[in-house]
Amino acid sequence: MKKIVFATNNAHKLQELRQIVGEDFEILSLADIGCTDDIPETADTLDGNALMKAQYIKEHYGMDCFSDDTGLEIDALGGEPGVYSARYGGVAHDSERNMDKVLMKLQGVTDRSARFRTVIALIEGDKVTKFEGKVEGRILTERHGDEGFGYDPIFAPVEADGRSFAQMTAQEKNAISHRGRATAALVKHLTRDK
Ligand code: IMP
Repeated sequence: MKKIVFATNNAHKLQELRQIVGEDFEILSLADIGCTDDIPETADTLDGNALMKAQYIKEHYGMDCFSDDTGLEIDALGGEPGVYSARYGGVAHDSERNMDKVLMKLQGVTDRSARFRTVIALIEGDKVTKFEGKVEGRILTERHGDEGFGYDPIFAPVEADGRSFAQMTAQEKNAISHRGRATAALVKHLTRDK
């Protein structure tokens, strides 16, 4: 089985990705390769950050790898929080504060259109390939549901029935999500010779 590093330790993302990839690849996390480094993620675009993380692993661990970067882009906020989605509320990875800030900024705003966008940068040998996935939706006025993570309780994809991502099963979300789509493109590429 081909081994490939996914430059993350996010358990939710690893679980989602392993479900999508199936049996063809063994996906190793940063913990699996013994990497506890604070990998730089200082670019100001999703593309730049995804590539920066993948290049770091390639340079320091010499393994084929891929990395993703995701942003929630809200039209009425000029594309915010975008590349700053993880720390929008001021504290990194504090989803409650992030959602509070979005809901506050959108109080009384009627245009609630938004999208999640994921960029994946893959490095195989010395070749870089990028994949993108997005899902259009709208920002709800309050939280709904307990599944998923991040902004899921306040994001309702237009392709669904009005439910938020946090009200869907993992399978339902993966089938239409930004990361599901970017990952499908990645998997199609990885399995192209099969
Ligand atoms: P990352 O680049 O995948 O780490 O994503 C950055 C931030 O976007 C995360 O910290 C979450 O707040 C948010 N995010 C990413 N993917 C999702 C998702 O599938 N649902 C909800 N929020 C997400």
